[in-house]
Amino acid sequence: MTTPDTLREAADAAEVAVADARSITDLDRIEDEYLGPESAVAVARRSLRAADEETRRELGRAVHEVSTHLGALVAERRATLERAAIDGRLASESLDLTLPGRVPPRGTVHAVHAMWDEIVDIFVALGYTVASGPEAETAYHNFDALNTPPWHPARLESDTLYLDYGDDPEGVLLRTQTSPVQVRWLEEHPTPVYVVAPGRVYRRDPLDVTHSPVFHQMEGLAVDRDLSFADLKGTLQHFIDALYGKGRRIRFLPHFFPFTEPSAELFMSCHLCDGSGCRTCSNKGWIELLGCGVVDPYVLSAAGHDPDEVSGFAFGVGIDRLAMARHGIPEIRHLWDADLRVLEQFR
Ligand code: DAH
Repeated sequence: MTTPDTLREAADAAEVAVADARSITDLDRIEDEYLGPESAVAVARRSLRAADEETRRELGRAVHEVSTHLGALVAERRATLERAAIDGRLASESLDLTLPGRVPPRGTVHAVHAMWDEIVDIFVALGYTVASGPEAETAYHNFDALNTPPWHPARLESDTLYLDYGDDPEGVLLRTQTSPVQVRWLEEHPTPVYVVAPGRVYRRDPLDVTHSPVFHQMEGLAVDRDLSFADLKGTLQHFIDALYGKGRRIRFLPHFFPFTEPSAELFMSCHLCDGSGCRTCSNKGWIELLGCGVVDPYVLSAAGHDPDEVSGFAFGVGIDRLAMARHGIPEIRHLWDADLRVLEQFR
C-alpha cells in the first residue's frame, strides 16, 4: 500500500538518480522508473479512486507534489544534458575560419622562356613578325640553302643528330640552328621581310657545365631595299639597350658564317663589371652575345630573291646563355634539372 511517506522516499531516491543521469538515455530510463506507468506515483494515482476521502486528500496531495517536483527536475536535467550534447558536437565539428587556407602551388614561367618572351617582345615592338619552323628539318634548309656545302665540318655526324628518315640517311636532321627558318620564310614571302624566329635546336653535345644537346636560339632576319651593316648595328644596339639598359658598349669582331658576308660576333661590355673584368666575363670585360652579318647573296637567290634588288642582315642569339647571364646561373644543366628549388627562384 503506497503512502505519502513511501512516495516521498521514492521521490528522494529519484532526485539523486536524476542528478546522476549522465545521458538522455539514462534520464529516459529514470523518468520511466519514477514517473512511468509502473512507478510508485502512478500506482498511487490509480489507487486514489478506490480510497476513502481522507486518504484520497492526503495521498492525492503527495502524488501531485511528487510528480510535479520530479517532472520539473527531469525537465531541467534533460535541458542541461541536451545543451551539453550540442556543445560537445559544436566543439568536435568546429570549423576555424581564421586558419589560413591551403594555397595551391603556383607555377612559374621557366627562366629560358621568360627570356624568350622578353627578347621577342623587343623585336615585335620594332615591327618584326614572329616566325617558326620544324625542329625535324631537311639538310637542305639547315645547310645547303644556307650556303653550307656537303663537306662543311658542321655537317659531320659528330655535330649533327641525323634522323635516318626516308631515302637519304642524312636528308633529315634535328635542326642545329634556327637559321633554316630564314630560308623557309624567304621561300614563301615577298620582301620587305622583318622576322624573328625563336625555337629549340639540337647538337650532338654531351650535357656539361656549358653545353646541352638541346638549347634555344632566336634568329633575326631583315631583308629590304638598301639594308646594310649599319642597319644591323643600329638594330642590335637598340636590342642591347632594351635588354640591359642604356650604357652598354658593343663591338663587332670579324667571324665566319657560311650564310652571311661579312660576318661578325657581337660583344657587349660586361653588364656586371662594366669592362674591368670579372668572373661573368672571364676577366675579359666583354661578353659574346651572338653571331650576325649581312645576308650572303647566295642565300637570297637560293630562296628566290634577287640580291641585286634587295639586301639584308641576320643574327642568331642563344637564349639560354642570356638567361644564365641575367640570373647569374653558373651551369646550363641547372636550367634542365627540373629542380623546383632552383627554378622557383626565377619568378
Ligand atoms: N646559326 C648560327 C649558330 O648557330 C648563329 C648565327 C650567326 C645566325 C650569324 C645568324 C647569323 O643569322 O647571321 O651559331
